[in-house]
Amino acid sequence: MADGPWPDELDLSRPNGARVYDYLLGGAHNFQVDRDHAQRLLAANPEQQYGAQANRAFLRRVVEWCLDRGVRQFLDLGSGVPTVGNVHEIAHAHDPAVRVAYVDCDPIAVAHSTEVVDGLDTVSVTRADLTRPLEVLAAEGVAGLLDLDEPVALLAIACLHFIGGDAERFMAVFRERLAPGSVLAISHGSDDVDDPDHAARMRAVVESFRDTASPVTLRSRAELRELLGDLAPVEPGIVDVTDWPRAGLAARPAATWAAVAVKE
Ligand SMILES: C[S@@+](CC[C@H](N)C(=O)[O-])C[C@H]1O[C@@H](n2cnc3c(N)ncnc32)[C@H](O)[C@@H]1O
Repeated sequence: MADGPWPDELDLSRPNGARVYDYLLGGAHNFQVDRDHAQRLLAANPEQQYGAQANRAFLRRVVEWCLDRGVRQFLDLGSGVPTVGNVHEIAHAHDPAVRVAYVDCDPIAVAHSTEVVDGLDTVSVTRADLTRPLEVLAAEGVAGLLDLDEPVALLAIACLHFIGGDAERFMAVFRERLAPGSVLAISHGSDDVDDPDHAARMRAVVESFRDTASPVTLRSRAELRELLGDLAPVEPGIVDVTDWPRAGLAARPAATWAAVAVKE
């Protein structure tokens, strides 16, 4: 585990999705309990590490796509533990003036992100619950950094499957607040895939997370479409993350749907 200090409320008795994902990506911001869980996860679904890498590669492509469209503000929900290819690093390689607001509920993710962006006045880190959109949007790190009357890329990448119940309810509030020209990008784990064995392995992943601090809810392709509301997905539509924006970017699917939509 990398250096502390750690927030007092850190729960080290149970694995946590942010830190397990960090471990799968080869990061150092995780504890033994997370590494042990990652090994159980990989036993349940050997494809899970590949899935994490494929999702992270999708994140990079979607950020670059937004930059190419001229979007200069990012609101990254469930931004995670910083690792290779953070949104502000990708964005600042294009334009150092791009503003990036990171939001995560996990104290480790927030502590490390804060350390990584120290000294950058174009980047903020906010600890908040993304299921409370009005609080997220009003937070100093978001409202004080981003101009929500201008286009924003709202990223919900590999985080909504950690939230059960009616995700459409709070996503609608975010969508409503986006200015025209804004982008909504989502990736989401699913067992709604062609390969029945892969579907079964995704359900085994859900089982393995059941009693952790981060239970997982898979959603179907149709349920992901609902999270876009009246925003239509851009081409090629809702596809596996490995097929966005074009098929054949990776050897095989990651059982993670990707959708990118633009608010007119
Ligand atoms: C698998 S990581 C994804 C990180 C990054 N978005 C990516 O795709 O590389 C999921 C992140 O969502 C965060 N998360 C889960 N539920 C959340 C909530 N209710 N509010 C804010 N963040 C949340 C977790 O703490 C974790 O850091």
